[in-house]
Amino acid sequence: MLHLIIAEAALETIPREIWKHPAVRKYAKKRGKPPSLLLLDLSFHYSAAKKLPDIQKRGRPDITHIALLEALGSPLNRAGMLRVYVHTYNDYVIKIDPSTRLPRNYLRFTGLIEQLFETRKVPPESEKPLLILEQMSIRDLIGEIAPTKVILMSEKGKYMDLIKFGELLRSTPKPAVIVGGFQHGDFREETESLADEKVSLFPEPLDTWVIVSRIITAYEIATNIYRRVGVKR
Ligand SMILES: C[S@@+](CC[C@H](N)C(=O)[O-])C[C@H]1O[C@@H](n2cnc3c(N)ncnc32)[C@H](O)[C@@H]1O
Repeated sequence: MLHLIIAEAALETIPREIWKHPAVRKYAKKRGKPPSLLLLDLSFHYSAAKKLPDIQKRGRPDITHIALLEALGSPLNRAGMLRVYVHTYNDYVIKIDPSTRLPRNYLRFTGLIEQLFETRKVPPESEKPLLILEQMSIRDLIGEIAPTKVILMSEKGKYMDLIKFGELLRSTPKPAVIVGGFQHGDFREETESLADEKVSLFPEPLDTWVIVSRIITAYEIATNIYRRVGVKR
């Protein structure tokens, strides 16, 4: 089983500091909800958000959306061998049931995540929710998963080709892999300090979803997932 953590994801509700900004007020009116219940998205809120700290790591829910579609739709997940978690910039963790079929449409996805921030679970009344939101640091999440090795993906890590990387994952009894869910910049020291190994798959930074796709493929090939699920050759 592979545990995949999309970390420090650029996913948060609009922060209080910019609730009164005219662009945010206008957007909130149009959406018919208060800013506290809407997701920060730089494509709509850049003029209001540009002076916020760490702006290069915030306001990009689309990164998490694409990465989750990639992960949840993978053969690895279909075979029951993947658990995905989203840890956010503000230290929330979204736990995702592997059977979740997320909306393909971005606006429907953000609507769902806004509901999750409001009700803490989706569907709200369910005994066995598909999505659960908890206030939790990445350290506590790693403590809860209790992996035998934590691998942090970074273009600044030690280069490993995909086949070797797959072997590293396969030979680890309970691997957890951390991928940044933000557009630019580095992980916080706290996140870096949790890593047993830092691995680079390419000498340049790539998009989160590209790295997610490569991690999953490497593990699928190393564990022979296609044969396990009975794919005929
Ligand atoms: C868009 S990158 C983050 C920003 C990147 N550090 C930069 O400044 O452009 C998203 C995440 O994908 C992973 N990643 C990106 N390029 C990588 C590479 N070449 N090798 C391994 N992981 C990579 C890292 O986990 C990174 O945090």
